Amino acid sequence: MSSKHGTWPYPRVLAHRGGGTLAPENTLAGVNEGMQRGFRAIEFDVMLARDGVAVVMHDPYLGRTVAGSGNVPDYDSVELSGMDAGSWFGPAYAGEPVPNFVEFAQYCKANGIWMNIEIKPVPGHEAATGATVARIAAALFADEIGTPAAPLLSSFSMAALAAAQDAAPQLARACLFDTLPPDWQAQARALGAVAIHTNHRHLTASTTQAIQSAGLGLLCYTVNTPTRARTLQSWGVDCLCTDRLDLIGPDFT
Ligand code: G3P
Ligand code: MG
Repeated sequence: MSSKHGTWPYPRVLAHRGGGTLAPENTLAGVNEGMQRGFRAIEFDVMLARDGVAVVMHDPYLGRTVAGSGNVPDYDSVELSGMDAGSWFGPAYAGEPVPNFVEFAQYCKANGIWMNIEIKPVPGHEAATGATVARIAAALFADEIGTPAAPLLSSFSMAALAAAQDAAPQLARACLFDTLPPDWQAQARALGAVAIHTNHRHLTASTTQAIQSAGLGLLCYTVNTPTRARTLQSWGVDCLCTDRLDLIGPDFT
């Protein structure tokens, strides 16, 4: 890493939700789409099914990306694995399953894909989700802890991050905020976070500077135009998370 990004040892551009908007989100098909485009770094979302098994999914309910009705905690993970998370995107993806988190992470690791794992708890399941995800990631990356190859956990839920910290303090964490709260630095410090992840729409150059002066890394989501990506990079933002793998490649500058 260049000295400009001294607090960010990770890749500089991530494929949002696995493969951005070029394939169904949070699926292996998305990861494969990104790989074909040269991406070796992704962000994705994880929550718990009824049986406490972690699955890769964004919404806590079915209907948008997964054919069906009800909520994720109404189903065991094997039931979700049998559901169709691809048809909504296009017929070529029919039958693409809701990934089991362990299998998904193993696949990424085997293919050299770096992971920003967003802990996305179903409301009311914050601590259990944070602890489960952290334990699994720590076990999978036991030999890489402390190196840039290990995953970075992030969450909008500070309770989930606190549980992750308790379960696997050795894993790096990032506080995820849509709009930065006034006490972002105190929250990051309390959780031992190494970075702030935030919506680029609300970010300014001076906030970028404040975050980096605090010794924290800075990731922005979801950056989908090259013009905006260049502006954020000129401010010194460490990492961009994008849907548009076709416009903002892994080595974008
Ligand atoms: O982790 C960054 C970004 O994914 C947060 O928003 O809703 O796409 O999970 P969302
Ligand atoms: Mg996410």
